[in-house]
Amino acid sequence: MTEQEYMDREAKYGAHNYHPLPVVLEKGEGIYVWDVNGKRYFDFLSAYSAVNQGHCHPKIVEAMTEQAKKLALTSRAFYNNVLGEWEEYITKYFGYDKVLPMNSGAEADETALKLCRRWGYDVKGIPADQAKIIVCDNNFHGRTITIITLSNDPSSYAGFGPFTPGFERIPYDDIPALEEALKDPNVAGFLLEPIQGEAGVYVPHEGYLKKAYDLCKAHNVLFMADEVQTGIARTGKMLACDHEGVRPDILILGKAISGGLMPVSCVLADDEIMLTIKPGEHGSTYGGNPIAAKVSMAALQVIKDEKLEENAERLGKIFRERVKAIKSDMMELVRGKGLLNAVVITPKNGKTAWDVCLKLRDNGLLAKPTHEHIIRFAPPLVINEEQLLEAIGIIEKTLKEFE
Ligand SMILES: Cc1ncc(COP(=O)(O)O)c(C=O)c1O
Repeated sequence: MTEQEYMDREAKYGAHNYHPLPVVLEKGEGIYVWDVNGKRYFDFLSAYSAVNQGHCHPKIVEAMTEQAKKLALTSRAFYNNVLGEWEEYITKYFGYDKVLPMNSGAEADETALKLCRRWGYDVKGIPADQAKIIVCDNNFHGRTITIITLSNDPSSYAGFGPFTPGFERIPYDDIPALEEALKDPNVAGFLLEPIQGEAGVYVPHEGYLKKAYDLCKAHNVLFMADEVQTGIARTGKMLACDHEGVRPDILILGKAISGGLMPVSCVLADDEIMLTIKPGEHGSTYGGNPIAAKVSMAALQVIKDEKLEENAERLGKIFRERVKAIKSDMMELVRGKGLLNAVVITPKNGKTAWDVCLKLRDNGLLAKPTHEHIIRFAPPLVINEEQLLEAIGIIEKTLKEFE
């Protein structure tokens, strides 16, 4: 089959809810992916930061295949001999009393919202059905009805109402706005991304997370960090909140906690919060399945063993420094932390970020625009300096082709 035939088949039989870059991949290894014609590319999206450990990491693949041969799924109707091992591993890894496993990032966010409301009623004493959760402008937490309720991006919410009550949106990176919103005694929680990834890699001012956390504490409000995209070493620390020494009351993880092999997400919290949800009140058939548990332990171990935090921190600095030095009037600015970076593109002669991504593809590097004029660059964290410099060479050559 030709690439076009693969794409046509998807268009014919699949829902049109994505607009993929025209490239059809069939193999991945480490930082590279190959298309069906055997052409190799640098992967600078990493499946939206799910593949931090690199494609098909052998240790994670081994964990997955070994467990798949033994026991794949029990549901939570019964105990299995692996879930507890993962629960102990991940709670000790991140320093929380308890974990609640789910599958997708959106489900983990939904779980956090439910936990927060329940804590608001049972512990904080908010009157029934009055709990309010504060969220931020330009957030991205996923695609369920409640989560798109939180969004101010029409491509997320328009045409999908009515929405879920009980949320207030305030500007991101705005402490006075948070202070004002926290005056309402019925606020149970504040949900934010420590860096807004989908919005275009917006890094808040230094000190914002800490100040926001302190304000939440002063008002007996839960600080909930959605680290689905920023977590697991992506920004140069295990969690983006670690840059400011903040320990969220509810920590939401997904994507790279499985290294891209399967959907695994979770919420971590201490007992006062987590034990407010009782048996039968929340769950998921696949959440915490034995394969997910083994895969996630292997994926998290790879991050530590291969020191991917340090690598992301060091190479991120080189990336920003080198890309900033590229002379191109299409490049407006470069921002980011660790290996989560974005370049803001000024359209030139009708050519946009999408056209730049098509040319990058032709030149052997895959990246995807977010919000039309922003290109996110987020390679697997196993990339080394030589490979990074080669990739930056491709970015430079590509931008020059638009001169
Ligand atoms: C910060 C954040 N939260 C949640 C999600 C949703 O994750 P999923 O697509 O696995 O539902 C994403 C996805 O990009 C994300 O970036």
